Amino acid sequence: MKLVEQPSELRSALDDVRLQGRKIGFVPTMGNLHAGHIALVKEAQSHCDVVVVSIFVNPLQFNNSDDLANYPRTLEQDVAALNQAGADFVFTPSAEALYPNGLEAETKVTVPVLSDILEGELRPGHFDGVSTVVCKLFNLVQPHLAVFGEKDYQQLALIRKMTTDLLLPIEIIGLATVREASGLAMSSRNNRLSAEQLQTAPLLAKEMRQIAAKLSRNNQAELSQSAKQALEKMGFKCDGIDIVDAANLSPVTPQSRSAVILMAAFLGEVRLIDNCVIELH
Ligand code: PAF
Repeated sequence: MKLVEQPSELRSALDDVRLQGRKIGFVPTMGNLHAGHIALVKEAQSHCDVVVVSIFVNPLQFNNSDDLANYPRTLEQDVAALNQAGADFVFTPSAEALYPNGLEAETKVTVPVLSDILEGELRPGHFDGVSTVVCKLFNLVQPHLAVFGEKDYQQLALIRKMTTDLLLPIEIIGLATVREASGLAMSSRNNRLSAEQLQTAPLLAKEMRQIAAKLSRNNQAELSQSAKQALEKMGFKCDGIDIVDAANLSPVTPQSRSAVILMAAFLGEVRLIDNCVIELH
């Protein structure tokens, strides 16, 4: 496995790979890797000859400077885990390399509508940061395929749309959320939960499955309201329980074929998210 910091070095190494006719898979991350990230790497390996993983805590997608400062940085462990997983390249650029003109002066990529609704409404600028950095990374790596977790459902939808709209010749693969035995969706944020909060956290997925079991075209508002009340009794502070069309994240209509339940709730300071897609009959 090769560790690369400089974009120019990555480009020339990957030019050679392409000249050999080998297929490149890409997994962008912000590090602090867990089994969910390793599953993304394995998925990329199952389709490609060479897998590149980037580790970059992207300042442009944080709208809170404390969050950025406190984001866990565990490079040594991450590199060891990627080595063990058999990744070929780990790309760890500096912020200066990706944003040479400084964050404010850089060209941004904005995906209309999807960047401003739901999670985007709660975190202004966040999704512009995501689409901009992913576009830059795509241009550097020029992968044939990239793998993202379905846990960040809106992010995945945004990246799919950006890739289609900008005619990028990259196949986007979404991988099902990897869960703990308790049902809790794996996340780097779970490390910040206390032992007591770790007992409560799986109830978010449990409540989501209960909504899923009862969901029809006409009862979304009432289901999300009662789930909110139930979760608050368990100690969560709900930050959004939205049930929208799974294809475009707009309100469910009579034409919608499937819905996605998007859950976001705080346990103490830690914000947990989860989602599941339901076919509508
Ligand atoms: O999901 C993440 O870890 C980040 O949003 C991503 C896609 C690596 C962009 O910084």
